[in-house]
Amino acid sequence: GPPPQYDFLIVGGGTSGLVVANRLSEKKDVTVAVIEAGDSVLHNVNVTTVLGYGLAFGTDIDWAYQTEDQTYADGKKQTMRAGKAIGGTSTINGMSYTRAQDVQIDAWELAGKGWNWKNLFPYYKKSEHFQIPTPEQVAAGADYYIAYHGLTGPLKVGWPYEMTNDSVLPVLDETMRQLGVPFNRDANGGEMVGLTSHPNTVDREKDIREDAARAYFWPFESRPNLKIISNTNVNKILWSNDSHSEALAVGVEVTGPNGTETILASKEVILSAGSLKSPVILELSGVGNPDILKKYDIPVKVNNTAVGENLQDQTNNGLHWEGREFFLGEATFSLMPSANQLYGDKVSDIASSINSSLADYAEAVEKFSNGAVQAANVLYMLQIQWDLIFKSQVPFAEIVFLPIARTFGTEYWPLLPFSRGSIHIKSSDPTKTPSINPNYFMFEQDFDSAVAVAQYIRKIFSTRPLSDLVGDETSPGLDLLPENASDTDWKNWVKSTYRSNYHPVGTASMLPREKGGVVNPELKVYGTQNVRVIDASVFPSQLCGHLTSTLYAVAERASDLIKNKYTAY
Ligand code: FDA
Repeated sequence: GPPPQYDFLIVGGGTSGLVVANRLSEKKDVTVAVIEAGDSVLHNVNVTTVLGYGLAFGTDIDWAYQTEDQTYADGKKQTMRAGKAIGGTSTINGMSYTRAQDVQIDAWELAGKGWNWKNLFPYYKKSEHFQIPTPEQVAAGADYYIAYHGLTGPLKVGWPYEMTNDSVLPVLDETMRQLGVPFNRDANGGEMVGLTSHPNTVDREKDIREDAARAYFWPFESRPNLKIISNTNVNKILWSNDSHSEALAVGVEVTGPNGTETILASKEVILSAGSLKSPVILELSGVGNPDILKKYDIPVKVNNTAVGENLQDQTNNGLHWEGREFFLGEATFSLMPSANQLYGDKVSDIASSINSSLADYAEAVEKFSNGAVQAANVLYMLQIQWDLIFKSQVPFAEIVFLPIARTFGTEYWPLLPFSRGSIHIKSSDPTKTPSINPNYFMFEQDFDSAVAVAQYIRKIFSTRPLSDLVGDETSPGLDLLPENASDTDWKNWVKSTYRSNYHPVGTASMLPREKGGVVNPELKVYGTQNVRVIDASVFPSQLCGHLTSTLYAVAERASDLIKNKYTAY
């Protein structure tokens, strides 16, 4: 028979895609299909287990994308994890729920009117079902301002009943006060700096992970106008042959259990395949840099050299100590110091040294992209980032405390690295892996930050009362990096032990087209009539929060923008 047709096709049933699918299908006479490469993970214990972070890694629900050899880190590849499941990466992630610093979202306003903290804040709340902590949970450190939270949204946010020992947070708090960093009762109102006990995406009563599918899809599965097509890969967008000044998508080509087929869209195709897939689908569909597309005989539908550029991720390392107590349950304590707090007296020297390097960084990014991006545009964005770090004093790093059994570990990442990479196809065959290059540590400054934060963590753990709660440092340990270790030794340790922080953004940025944008403020792909990208690809810059809370909010707001376009709503 003829190919199936829906009003809206959503490519990728992940964190963002399921929000959009839910909201667009609220109206009964609008048909929505979600095409997802993975399957249901509703009963997968590697997903549901609250203390099971990491269990899903390397299993068949982890894309485990491989990067190119990382030139600035001894040439080794990295694995970038991402969920392949109904629910996407929200089914395998660390469940931390932290938003962004208000001024970072305000900086998005340069992409066009409407994207600022004030407008996004109601959408964070719209998506949220905050589970108010019990008195016992408050005693163990859960804290909040109710005005920052939504109580009636789909996504369950809160603390699991199994929280860590009550003794830990007061010790961390007292230690950080010694170092001049105050406690932040609730980091989800736009001011993130300080020590905080952040909530998670967790269903407290069921004691299982909360993810995009449990929140936005499974309870709505029976809507007759909402269809999920799982175990099916989207290969490319199909275009109308008519000559339009802007390309008109008519559907997608998919490969699934029945082989390769066409599915038609009467209104829009929405890419929500994640920041390491949506730009690849654009290129396979002829939207991108002609130099790259021509290499693989892909006809150019929209010439935009920014597609796949501006890839930004963070790097993650950890330091570990022996614990002097036995620690139970889950700790969700994180510390987000500003540059002033972290660097102290040295901050103005560091700030001016970075400032004087920004033009060189921008040149290097242009060169790496073979001219696909312009140094002036990169410099503009780097300058905004510098202002956020050193003028606005947004958090400089996140340090997560991990008291587990007889150990007291940390993981940390500098929040706003300056390195920029890219992702591009290496074949016209959609089953072939693309070239993913985050360019970790492209600039010396990104090493320096990673070293500075590691040294700061040592300082924290040698400050009382925290120093009384821990024994010896087990990793890296004083044998490997003694008190007088040089910055070069530290740098080598960072380089040999780091991993991806799994927060890739920016590969189809929301920016003015002439500034390196791929989508406009309605998240519509420039040069097309009816293709949008709604996922982490569109964040033009990295955020200080973990990504999902903002992705849910962006997808909620984008859904309203779409609804406003069609009279059916
Ligand atoms: P997402 O990856 O969710 O969805 C994309 C979907 O598209 C997937 O389901 C995929 O299978 C599908 N797809 C891809 N290609 C396709 C194709 N060709 N055809 C059909 N379907 C296709 N964030 C946070 O807030 N707190 C945290 O603690 C953590 N921790 C964390 C740990 C780990 C290990 C990872 C990997 C990530 C995190 N993150 C996180 C980050 C966060 O989870 C992540 O940024 C978002 O879930 C990404 O949401 P998206 O909607 O962009 O893509």
